[in-house]
Amino acid sequence: MNEEDSFLYDTFPQEFLWGVATSAFQCEGGTKAGGRGVSIWDTFCLDPSNILDKSNADVTSDSYHKYQEDIKLIKELGVNFYRFSISWARIIPDPTGSGEVNSAGVQYYNNLIDGLLAIGVMPLVTLYHFDLPQTIEDKGGFLNESVLVDCFKKYADVCFSEFGDRVKYWITFNEPKEIATLGYGNGCLAPGIKSPFDGVYQAAHNLIKAHASVWHLYDHSYRNSQNGKIFISLSSNFFMPKDANCPEDVEAVELAHQFSIGWFAHPIFIDGDYPPIMKNKIAEISKIEGREKSRLPEFTEEEKKFIKGTSDFLGYNYYTSRLVSVPDSDMPTDIDMSLFFLYVVPQGIRGILNWLKNEYNSVAVFMTENGFSDSSGTVDDPERVQFFKSHINELLKAVKIDGCNVVAYTAWTLLDNFEWIFGYTCRFGLVSVDFDTEEKCRTPKKSFYFYSKVIKDNGFPAISE
Ligand code: BGC
Repeated sequence: MNEEDSFLYDTFPQEFLWGVATSAFQCEGGTKAGGRGVSIWDTFCLDPSNILDKSNADVTSDSYHKYQEDIKLIKELGVNFYRFSISWARIIPDPTGSGEVNSAGVQYYNNLIDGLLAIGVMPLVTLYHFDLPQTIEDKGGFLNESVLVDCFKKYADVCFSEFGDRVKYWITFNEPKEIATLGYGNGCLAPGIKSPFDGVYQAAHNLIKAHASVWHLYDHSYRNSQNGKIFISLSSNFFMPKDANCPEDVEAVELAHQFSIGWFAHPIFIDGDYPPIMKNKIAEISKIEGREKSRLPEFTEEEKKFIKGTSDFLGYNYYTSRLVSVPDSDMPTDIDMSLFFLYVVPQGIRGILNWLKNEYNSVAVFMTENGFSDSSGTVDDPERVQFFKSHINELLKAVKIDGCNVVAYTAWTLLDNFEWIFGYTCRFGLVSVDFDTEEKCRTPKKSFYFYSKVIKDNGFPAISE
């Protein structure tokens, strides 16, 4: 069957939401402006060998100064919401010291939020998108439960009380798995801690508690008056068995999904605890290693009750898929630890949405990222157009044919920007940024206009409609 044969001409439900996303560290720049404190990414970039092109995000696409231009672009794109993250260190520069709120930082986000509302676009705010204030990391970061939970709650409280009258969608953490595995496991993202055995699970454990605490804070003190939603955003490859007739491969696929999604979604959406398969596997391996206790920390019964049910949607970032096989061990060969190769697998978005539907009782999914990178940033970007066309069409099939409960789609990302360890060598933007000019000139790419049309049409209506 060729692509045209299987293409679905139809539209999304009327209330479906369309958005575009960025994150503070990747696009704001102005790292020393307006009293901002230092984040772990500022520190990580000080060692140029950490970043492929030895760059940093001191200026990047300069949205700190050019947010009004961004708002014009967002208006032209025609989205319902703009997902951006708040730089924690801009709001509270020194959370473990003075803890003072930086009014210039609050003012910046007030301007952005008001500018969005003025053009009829809802703000969706991510509280944490990889940029921990350095002073928290100096006290152990995600490995220090009490400091993390306490500081995250104080920061969230400031955000809810300053912005919650106008912000109705909040994300606590973006991609907890990446924070734990890449930040505290193999150390390839900031803060660059290499603790693959103990750090990873402890960081994730503390993160889940910090997430639940902030969900309860909102639920208890703000939901009635502000009427918003608050959720967590996960990310994982979709895994498929290399040989669907091989039971070991099929089993390994399940293991891979549970280790990358269930790790967070099972406690939050099911019963407050890690997936049984994950607990058993880690306990088994810990025993072989001669440890007295499993490397996976345990939640108390009270904590389980506290964690269960703490997300109003399941936020999900989809980029790619992997084939899984078990050649000569009983562990999955690939749990997404280090490879950046984002193979284009549109069917994976449909596959993962069906897996989420079955596993989490038709939970409402909020797609918070999906996007395509090239190295040139060229405005003539047919591959990105094709990427969005095929992925949004597979998403449409998941919604219309499979009955998956998806409430929103978010394209990553508005602007070419600082792509973490890849610096400026990977460009995901719908809008190209000329980094060589002081003005950081913005030019919409062809994919910008393509996505804008999909939004206007609410999908892909048949020509006769
Ligand atoms: C992150 C973004 C990143 C994107 C592309 C996601 O994992 O949330 O910050 O730019 O992937 O790599």
